[in-house]
Amino acid sequence: VKSVLGIAGSLRQGSYNRLLLRAAQELAPPGTSIVVYQELGSIPLYDADLERTTGGGPAAVQQLRTLVAAADGILLATPEYNHGIPGVLKNAIDWLSRPAPEEVLAAKPVAIIGASSGPSGTRLAQAALREVLYATESFVLPGPAILASGAARLFDDSGKLVDAAMRERLQALLAAFGRFADLVNPRDAAQ
Ligand SMILES: Cc1cc2nc3c(=O)[nH]c(=O)nc-3n(C[C@H](O)[C@H](O)[C@H](O)COP(=O)(O)O)c2cc1C
Repeated sequence: VKSVLGIAGSLRQGSYNRLLLRAAQELAPPGTSIVVYQELGSIPLYDADLERTTGGGPAAVQQLRTLVAAADGILLATPEYNHGIPGVLKNAIDWLSRPAPEEVLAAKPVAIIGASSGPSGTRLAQAALREVLYATESFVLPGPAILASGAARLFDDSGKLVDAAMRERLQALLAAFGRFADLVNPRDAAQ
């Protein structure tokens, strides 16, 4: 797997989930580059009328769709809001799930990670996200799980992931994701 698109389901500047993606960029296996998507805030709320009048979605949606289609894999870093997926992330996935049947998330390798300030490290949000990605027919990495609980303690003041165990786990997930993506998309692996 050569190109991975990282998407954090948070709009805030200091998002732990975006910091987790930054750590993933640092810990990616040789030959894999992770680009972190930064435009989630410009994706409008899904509206079938807007979709119709813009021929599939406005420019920001089309751009995200193109980025997802071009990536060998998607790394989703989800916060947990009230035991679920933040609306901004669900909303983006809803746009990406259309138009069927050419939806870009179908058969796309996806890995899920998540950080939260609470003790359960987005366990419920990740389970909910898996259910959503079942609907989009994406290929979701079964494990290992990255449940970054008590996120404030895992990063230093510069935003670097400094927790040794979490760095090791994230590195293991990225290596597993590379193997998994090549397995489910052997054509890409051969290129
Ligand atoms: C509306 C809202 C609901 C939240 N609900 C949960 C929750 O159910 N479980 C949890 O662990 N953290 C919850 N949190 C705390 C988030 O984990 C915390 O804000 C985290 O920093 C969000 O991710 P981010 O740093 O990437 O923005 C919630 C935060 C907000 C704003």
